[in-house]
Amino acid sequence: AFEVHLARTGVTVQVQPGQSILAVAEEAGGDVFGSCEEGICGTCETRVIEGNVDHRDDVLCGRDTGTMMICVSRALSRRLVIDA
Ligand code: FES
Repeated sequence: AFEVHLARTGVTVQVQPGQSILAVAEEAGGDVFGSCEEGICGTCETRVIEGNVDHRDDVLCGRDTGTMMICVSRALSRRLVIDA
């Protein structure tokens, strides 16, 4: 599990294995949007403020945009801070 802080919402959530950041953040009232939930459409792109991302999407293709697709990508660090 890792921790995600939703900076604009002011909430910190725990993301367990098998859960997506998108789903957990949505449930916590975060300002997040998803569509494909498979890392291909780009709808859920969210700015990363702090932490290391394990990019698992097919949108960014490893490009360093300072953002992440929160439907499939996860954390390499124990904590991420995202702009949501
Ligand atoms: Fe489509 Fe995340 S919802 S890339």
